[in-house]
Amino acid sequence: MGNIIDFHSHILPDIDDGSKSIEESLSMLQLEWKNGVTKVVATPHFYPQRDKPESFLNRREAAANKLKEAMKAKPDMPEIILGAEVYYFPGISDSEVISKLTLGGKNAILIEMPASPWTETMYRQLEGIYVKHGLTPVIAHIERYLSRFKSFADLKKLSQLPVLIQANGEFFTNPFTSRKALKLLKADLIHLIGSDCHDMNERRPELEKAIRLIEKKPGERAISRIEEYQKAVLSD
Ligand SMILES: [Fe+2]
Repeated sequence: MGNIIDFHSHILPDIDDGSKSIEESLSMLQLEWKNGVTKVVATPHFYPQRDKPESFLNRREAAANKLKEAMKAKPDMPEIILGAEVYYFPGISDSEVISKLTLGGKNAILIEMPASPWTETMYRQLEGIYVKHGLTPVIAHIERYLSRFKSFADLKKLSQLPVLIQANGEFFTNPFTSRKALKLLKADLIHLIGSDCHDMNERRPELEKAIRLIEKKPGERAISRIEEYQKAVLSD
């Protein structure tokens, strides 16, 4: 895969529970590049209950500008695309806020679903994000919620909504979950991958191993499908 995009990262310095400094962000970006990642979508947490969008966007811009300035002196760095990981809230589909928080300013938005059980209302809200705003919700790190899908058919039901599904690289590389991850990918129930990196310790940006596993099996078709979704999400 020649064009890996990390769709989920906490790589901007000092804005959420991710990178704590410019230096750490630079190290993370260097590691992304070594992993073959050409573009990193920065998706700092946005919690609508405790943050105002304007203040979030200002902080995000300031953090990104500082980082981009520091990147000038470093060769071989991936491109940074701005986004957010927006925590689901009741009435999200009626909120004007969401259109400002899309991935790369385009037509998809990364949504972090709650840990509580997902209700039919939530499904309708996700649908509403698409119908009312023309934005495709991207469900973040689906592997965290798999226990709530009693069957494959249940997950299919989610995928029949106008949503895309993102999984973390770790879902593929963890020996306990790898088979499941590859099975879901093969069934077109995972569309985008991300590292969900937070630091250079426990939650490092290491997507290459996951990509290699996908390349090996299910193979070229799955890779080109990911590339198509990547392209679609970042196009106008
Ligand atoms: Fe995250």
